[in-house]
Amino acid sequence: MSTAISPTAYNYKVVRQFAIMTVVWGILGMGLGVFIASQLVWPQLNLDLPWTSFGRLRPLHTNLVIFAFGGCALFGTSYYVVQRTCQTRLISDSMAAFTFWGWQAVIVGALITLPMGFTTTKEYAELEWPLAILLAIVWVTYGLVFFGTIVKRKTKHIYVGNWFYGAFIVVTAMLHIVNHISLPVSLFKSYSAYAGATDAMIQWWYGHNAVGFFLTTGFLGMMYYFVPKQAERPIYSYRLSIVHFWALITLYIWAGPHHLHYTALPDWAQSLGMVMSIILLAPSWGGMINGMMTLSGAWHKLRTDPILRFLVVSLAFYGMSTFEGPMMAIKTVNSLSHYTDWTIGHVHAGALGWVAMISIGAVYHMIPKLYGREQMHSVGLINAHFWLATIGTVLYIASMWVNGITQGLMWRAINDDGTLTYSFVEALQASHPGYIVRALGGAFFATGMLLMAYNVFRTVRAANPVQAEEAAKIVVVGAH
Ligand code: HEM
Ligand code: HEM
Repeated sequence: MSTAISPTAYNYKVVRQFAIMTVVWGILGMGLGVFIASQLVWPQLNLDLPWTSFGRLRPLHTNLVIFAFGGCALFGTSYYVVQRTCQTRLISDSMAAFTFWGWQAVIVGALITLPMGFTTTKEYAELEWPLAILLAIVWVTYGLVFFGTIVKRKTKHIYVGNWFYGAFIVVTAMLHIVNHISLPVSLFKSYSAYAGATDAMIQWWYGHNAVGFFLTTGFLGMMYYFVPKQAERPIYSYRLSIVHFWALITLYIWAGPHHLHYTALPDWAQSLGMVMSIILLAPSWGGMINGMMTLSGAWHKLRTDPILRFLVVSLAFYGMSTFEGPMMAIKTVNSLSHYTDWTIGHVHAGALGWVAMISIGAVYHMIPKLYGREQMHSVGLINAHFWLATIGTVLYIASMWVNGITQGLMWRAINDDGTLTYSFVEALQASHPGYIVRALGGAFFATGMLLMAYNVFRTVRAANPVQAEEAAKIVVVGAH
């Protein structure tokens, strides 16, 4: 679908491209999630090949779901939101197009290099230096397009959603560049510039803030636009949103050491990470409450609007995972949860329940608007998707809680003479039923994504170019 290149129209072309790729990468990344979950049930699925082994496909899964699926959702929605709330077109169509194609190139690079075993071994920062450099260039261009558009805005103030998107863009650039400083020794091998405990600290400063700024702050930007829009209510408290913003970004950056409890990291740093994580509960819940309360007087809409349900349930999972996280950051709790499936359950409460659900809701909201349609092809299918996603997430999280606590307790159980009560294999056997339930939950979630793909396809196919062009026109008064 082509877009009118007119200064009086929004650049919807790039938004459409990112929105479609969100669905495509979502299916591939989650499909791969189901595959690696199945490998943990039936190890034969490793196929005795290095390229298809769990160890190589797991980082591919995380890269595809976080950077490909989540990343495309963030690029697409931020370009949509910044244009509509600033009532102006993106500053440069060619730079925006470069961010789209550059980002897809990075992902395709990950698809090729990770199964081949090229990796820095740093979690969520696995891509070797040539791809990391390309990613940095794309990201800086993204920042220029986003902030450039804000500079030429037609509105007086900067809507709070853009503050969150802006912080996500700036901090992600900083984290990526600092954590990737390394010495290349060949085209696909480099060594980190940092050593030992410092390397670990920098990596988890990166890792935790990738969660904090990529998987949280960016998606909060999404929340601040799409929840009020879909509920057709103003945000509950603008003042709370400002407090929420500053508190969240000031606190998140300190919490990284909770990933390194009981390691060689100095004890004071571990305690600092723990305390900051507990304090982090406050702004996290402030944000959740602000989103939830936006529905005041509009709760009845949940009965008929499955898109709103996606958005609200994502906030409920956000609240749940940001309660669980601070609890897991307490050192004594972490001594039980660390290394177990509890962590994996926590991750997916955030990843499926919060990140994926809010993205899905936002894409369903945008697609008809981007293509000049009244609504999605089938509301019934969105509803079916909603239930598949919710049940899938609950099955995933509940099975991992059971597994995690079982593993933690079995590993630490000792007999009177000080020997271990259970061998590792016994704990693994006890985890097997949970792995089956998790794979099933994942399959539910991924099936929902297939329904989404069909629904999006039918909506896009029914759109006509004239309507789509009309939809991109900038209507200055109360347009967003
Ligand atoms: C159908 C949906 C999904 C399934 C079945 C699935 C399955 C899995 C499995 C089996 C693992 C490896 C666990 C282990 O090592 O024991 C994993 C790891 C991970 N997944 Fe997923 N996943 C899904 C969706 C997602 C999504 C949408 C995201 C992010 C937006 C995500 C983010 C992650 C992360 C960050 C890890 C690494 C966790 C850690 O190291 O603690 N997953 N996933
Ligand atoms: C206040 C908010 C949060 C706090 C304090 C927090 C805290 C924690 C803690 C203590 C761990 C376990 C570290 C370990 O034992 O290795 C963890 C792991 C993790 N959390 Fe959270 N969490 C929060 C919110 C979230 C959210 C909303 C998401 C996802 C969107 C998320 C994603 C992750 C991931 C991906 C990991 C696994 C990292 C790894 O080991 O690979 N967290 N978090």
